[in-house]
Amino acid sequence: MNQYLTSIDNPIETVRYKGLTVKLLATGDGTEVIHHLLEEGARWSMQPQEGGTASESIFIVRGSMKVTIEGETKLVSPGDVLSASPVQHGFIFSALEQTEFIYISSQPVFQFFSELLRENQELAVEVALKDGYTADHCERIMQMSMLIGERMGLSPVDMCTLNYASYLHDVGKIKIPKSILLKEGPLSAEEWQEMKRHCIYGKELLEETDSPYMNMASQIVEQHHERYDGKGYPKGLHKDEISPLASIVSVVDAFDAMTTDRPYRKAMSVNEAVEELKKNDGTMFHPEVVKIFIDLIPDWSKMKQGV
Ligand SMILES: [Fe+2]
Repeated sequence: MNQYLTSIDNPIETVRYKGLTVKLLATGDGTEVIHHLLEEGARWSMQPQEGGTASESIFIVRGSMKVTIEGETKLVSPGDVLSASPVQHGFIFSALEQTEFIYISSQPVFQFFSELLRENQELAVEVALKDGYTADHCERIMQMSMLIGERMGLSPVDMCTLNYASYLHDVGKIKIPKSILLKEGPLSAEEWQEMKRHCIYGKELLEETDSPYMNMASQIVEQHHERYDGKGYPKGLHKDEISPLASIVSVVDAFDAMTTDRPYRKAMSVNEAVEELKKNDGTMFHPEVVKIFIDLIPDWSKMKQGV
């Protein structure tokens, strides 16, 4: 088919994912026109590809987003066009309200993008459910990690890596037998050793993908149970040997676990969990991350209540 009529209501294909709805409107000769609807607070990124030559543009139709371009935060609003040919520095857009934009790329990205998102989402949710959480656990860990990353002034590449790593931090648990993962009583020493291997399994799974961001996220997934004082696992890394991105995931994951009802215990209150973070500040957790997290507790509480 070389001529066709599509619309926002009748696109060629639609993918929905974490506050983002993506609709393929037109495709031909490698070029794609893709409509994006980003919910308030959701993020979207344009990232350089290794050896990429594509020309990419976005045209804002409705709403507003902030974007950091070479260290400077700017506001983009309807009528604005942002183009790169090719993309040399990553951009992370953050929607300040529900925002629509049209993305045009001279190379096809939709299929790759939608497959990556589907795989990513299905895997993470499968793990969370198996682990006794609800499906929104991964989403909350990811949103909160991104807020901390933003406060820490992470680069767009690090933000993108953090996005994948935080969402998929426990993905290695798909390789842990259910008899261990769902065991109600305490684990034997052998079972505990196997459970701890989820960091390594997760790293291996992400290393096997074709995505450079997943590959970078693999190191964070491997390190998300390392402790600031070196008593964590799998490698017993200390302080700055641990990636700051892994330190972020570690604090957010611990806090979310403490304040969520689990099959074997009731949730702590937010205040009790904050006290627990403070008690372990500088031993289990990175002090700077704890400080920023505590500042962001009101945002976390809103997320937890689904506001
Ligand atoms: Fe974990």
